[in-house]
Amino acid sequence: MSVERKTRIITTQRLLEMKQKGEKIAMLTAYDFTSAKIVDEAGIDIILVGDSAANVMAGHETTLPITLDQMIYHAQSVVRAVKNPMVVVDMPFGTYQGDSKHAVSSAIRIMKESEADALKVEGGSEILESVRRILSTGIPVMGHLGLTPQSIHKFGTYSVRAREEEEANKLIEDAIALEEAGCFAIVLEKIPAELGRKVSSCVKIPIIGIGAGNGVDGQVLVMHDMLGINTEFSPRFLRRYHNLHDEMLGAFRRFIDDVKSGDFPNEQEQY
Ligand code: KIV
Repeated sequence: MSVERKTRIITTQRLLEMKQKGEKIAMLTAYDFTSAKIVDEAGIDIILVGDSAANVMAGHETTLPITLDQMIYHAQSVVRAVKNPMVVVDMPFGTYQGDSKHAVSSAIRIMKESEADALKVEGGSEILESVRRILSTGIPVMGHLGLTPQSIHKFGTYSVRAREEEEANKLIEDAIALEEAGCFAIVLEKIPAELGRKVSSCVKIPIIGIGAGNGVDGQVLVMHDMLGINTEFSPRFLRRYHNLHDEMLGAFRRFIDDVKSGDFPNEQEQY
């Protein structure tokens, strides 16, 4: 008789070991049961239930509109599907910035209702109090620095961050502060490769990059982007592993033709 696995293979401790041994960490986003199951089967280390769901699942221009309830719904769907990878859930905009008590109750809601393994938050010194409080409840926290999409209205563009020395120095200080607070990993988004390498060597915890070069400890991509479902988004850092947009379009068109011509269903496809 097989026993359902109750604890996942990828833990915060295992990620730390991976960095120490120089084993790269692979992370992908997923938002639903079916695709999370395939990503798990492929052998991914971490699944991120990203607030990029606001863009790719709901069609919003930014990640800001997605709600706590919606993130919990996506997280529950993913957690139900997976056995081995760690499941990290993005805390949505407005649920942890500002009031650290509110941050803790949002964090507890996600963990209780989804049974995910960890949470991710965007920002450095500005959100440190919330990060400390969440960590004090025993919830593992992943940081996110560089281009932080929840601050898009402050930045004004999605261009590369921390090219200037002042912003680069603040980013390094923030990474060290997040590590000292107890974060188990940090995502670095869209920054110069040299800075990514430097941050990774300044901290012991794994640094997972998206457009942060090859000198970091792992890489993350948004599933819909790397599958080529979404053809309008093509930043330099994105490697497309498939052209699913064209595959899906072809399949939908063939189905429509088959229905219109009366070819579907045939004798074998009916009762
Ligand atoms: O929401 C998301 O998908 C993310 C990744 C881009 C890291 O935060």
